[in-house]
Amino acid sequence: MRIKVFNNRTEASDFLAHLFLNEVKRNPRLKIGFATGKTYKEVYKKIVYLTKRKKIDLSKIKMYQIDEYFNTKEKYFTFNYLKKYLIKPLNLDKNQIHMIKESYNFYKEHHKDKIDNLDFIFLGIGEDSHIAFNEPGSYKNSKIRIIKLSSITRKDNFGNLNNSPKLAITIGIKEILDSKKIILIAFGKNKSKPILDSFSGKILKKYPASFLQKHKDFILILDKKAFSLLNQKY
Ligand code: GLP
Repeated sequence: MRIKVFNNRTEASDFLAHLFLNEVKRNPRLKIGFATGKTYKEVYKKIVYLTKRKKIDLSKIKMYQIDEYFNTKEKYFTFNYLKKYLIKPLNLDKNQIHMIKESYNFYKEHHKDKIDNLDFIFLGIGEDSHIAFNEPGSYKNSKIRIIKLSSITRKDNFGNLNNSPKLAITIGIKEILDSKKIILIAFGKNKSKPILDSFSGKILKKYPASFLQKHKDFILILDKKAFSLLNQKY
């Protein structure tokens, strides 16, 4: 595991956008999983900006949705986010996008993974240490599935428990660990505790992000605030 700490999210986002575009240059057919959430807005805006400015061809990459709320009136929360921040501005074609619902149905039907061996995955972390929507208690070999969301996650993402989705589809820890390169980003004070819990060395089911520590190409990207508690351990 490598840790990189930046002064602020703008500097980190800049670094990440360059890192992503360099990966695409090396492998134009990159299969990549994209997280959603507040943390990624600036990163994705920067990717769009640089892609246009440097005229980078993204027409061969494959985008994988890694999680989505389930059984809700509004079916496409994370997909709408991806559409707004990446798919539309980058003009990605329908056949470049892999929706998680389809991957889940494929897995149920064929007992075979559609999301295996991603080249690259962008992850965030929840305040309860979830990654994608692998909530505390998730196993290392867990696969794509429907999961019950914790009340911490429901409050974080919707402000309260009323009308917030109770279920989600998520790729499992196994599919995440099978990715060749993993990036996890956390910014701000509210992420300092899950970062401390997950990256102090121990691997525990109650902190799902802790499974990433043993991956051979894992980079943890933090701003100073998110690093503050872990920093005291060094
Ligand atoms: C959501 C998503 C995760 C994301 C996390 C952090 O629950 N399922 O993929 O990483 O929350 O979100 P934010 O960046 O808004 O804090």
